[in-house]
Amino acid sequence: MSRRKLVVGNWKMNGLKAQLAEVEAIGRVAAEHPAVEVGLCVPATLIMAAAERKGAAFIGGQDCHMNASGAHTGCLSAEMLAEAGAEWIIVGHSERREAQGETDEHVAAKAFAAKAAGLKVILCVGESLDVRDAGDAESVVSAQLLASLPEGAAADWLAIAYEPIWAIGTGRIPTMEAVAAMHAALRASLASRIGGQADAMRILYGGSMNGDNAAELMALADVDGGLVGGASLTAEKFAPIIAAAG
Ligand code: PGA
Repeated sequence: MSRRKLVVGNWKMNGLKAQLAEVEAIGRVAAEHPAVEVGLCVPATLIMAAAERKGAAFIGGQDCHMNASGAHTGCLSAEMLAEAGAEWIIVGHSERREAQGETDEHVAAKAFAAKAAGLKVILCVGESLDVRDAGDAESVVSAQLLASLPEGAAADWLAIAYEPIWAIGTGRIPTMEAVAAMHAALRASLASRIGGQADAMRILYGGSMNGDNAAELMALADVDGGLVGGASLTAEKFAPIIAAAG
């Protein structure tokens, strides 16, 4: 099964209007690599302006509410994000699971709401260092994935991002063997739930991906792209990762 590589920047809580020039530059890099699907998940305040300057990249958001509307002060619905110009949305990032107390059930509900609003979804999973050190990473992350998987999960609107929490923003990554084993385990878990769709579903790696390690990571059989934080903030740092994918 050949899966089109998906390389997505997660700007987290970074980016003001001045950074729209980087969006434009990254959109131009994306145009040079048509074999790769490239996107930027920017802060919600930038989605509308970024969508006008995205070039060949897509623009996405970083979270949405699980409800379509209502009394949820400060929250944004999937429909609002889609109207602003988002095409994809990240759900279940470990920073939200930890700091905002999001559970697997919340994540599945958010993914389902996003799909209902016409968004595509990147669903994040990953283990803590304690779990990794205890040798339980594959079983814990597989269970987390199955518990977070929305109803109707299918490869044309859902991608998975495996992000070991201890690798995010730290400059540390697992061994290539460990990444390969995890991605194979996650694909097997997906197959147990969604059958043939598992073959087509993209499974991204995230956590300190950069221009030096991206090619080796994305050459692994079940690594179908990357979710990139720090190294996606400028075209200069993001371009080599995009090039490594295609
Ligand atoms: P990082 O973040 O690339 O800065 O480690 C990745 C992520 O959290 O999505």
